[in-house]
Amino acid sequence: MAGRSVVVGVGHYLPERIVPNSEFEKTLDTSDEWIRSRSGIERRHFAADGETTSDLATNAAEAALADAGLTAEDIDAIVLATSTADLTFPSAATMVQARLGMTHGFAFDVQAVCAGFVFALSNANALIVSGQAKRVLVIGAETFSRIMDWTDRSTCVLFGDGAGALVLELQEGEGTAQDRGILSTDLNSDGRYKDLLYVDGGVSTQSTGHLRMQGNQVFRHAVEKLAKTAETALGRAGLGSSDVDWIVPHQANIRIIQGTAKKMGLPMDNVVVTVQDHGNTSAASIPLALSVGKQRGQIKPGDLIVTEAIGGGLAWGAVVLRW
Ligand code: ACO
Repeated sequence: MAGRSVVVGVGHYLPERIVPNSEFEKTLDTSDEWIRSRSGIERRHFAADGETTSDLATNAAEAALADAGLTAEDIDAIVLATSTADLTFPSAATMVQARLGMTHGFAFDVQAVCAGFVFALSNANALIVSGQAKRVLVIGAETFSRIMDWTDRSTCVLFGDGAGALVLELQEGEGTAQDRGILSTDLNSDGRYKDLLYVDGGVSTQSTGHLRMQGNQVFRHAVEKLAKTAETALGRAGLGSSDVDWIVPHQANIRIIQGTAKKMGLPMDNVVVTVQDHGNTSAASIPLALSVGKQRGQIKPGDLIVTEAIGGGLAWGAVVLRW
């Protein structure tokens, strides 16, 4: 027997405003054709003025709780992955906790940029299997529109805002790879690559700053590191690529998604793709894709899923779970 963190609810929230690629043609030397062909992105959502990360996160959390048939009373902890919290402190997670009317348990943020949800899932799983929490709300939520340099065509066309959430619950499994729930995780970072992807401001430098990225350099690292972390995590569960029903990747670029699937020997039929509709929503992209994948009827109970992501740090990792 083994304690497993099983997904019992999933939900997401996207801000109302949808921005098609053509909007950028008005202010930048760019085109719908360039953005689509280089990134796969067709549109993205941007938060309204005054709409914050904790607003998006609360809506996604409520959707996940409703899907699970639970209320905040049933939750022991909230782990929220974000790099764009409303305030320097307190954490966005505690703001969501208050908004849900939850006065027990604990809540905290995890910051691993685009890999944030994989890091949050791994931490939530550790809380559950070590007996510190029975049910954990794991959220990825971002408002990257607030850290864009709108004059930099090489970055501002790529990102979007949104939030997704899962409810994880302790359930007893057999201790085999046939169990439902999180089966294995793999986390990595290497701070030597800071200059490839960072925000040129922060509290300690007295500014908010803008996202800076050497996109082609990040691209070079992405496919190789993502395929490797996915295979490492699968190996830890005693599984291989051929066991995978769905890759649910971080949605940054369709060419990275295709390259990683190819390196893992899997066809695109086994990949949940939402990048065309959401752009890169950083830590929100994987829970958004899980929620949309379930709504589309792609992800079904018992399916073996590998999620993988890479982002600023560089930080990267993967989680293998049976839905
Ligand atoms: N419109 C038109 N032309 C553009 C645009 C644009 N929006 N942006 C850049 N270009 C130009 C460049 O200036 C360059 O022109 P040049 O050849 O005259 O210098 C040319 O297009 C090619 O630029 P590259 O950067 O080499 O293009 P590439 O094919 O690598 O695509 C992209 C760029 C889409 C950014 C890609 O590199 C990518 O997706 N990288 C990875 C991003 C990623 O995965 N990030 C990780 C997560 S993000 C996070 O952690 C926050």
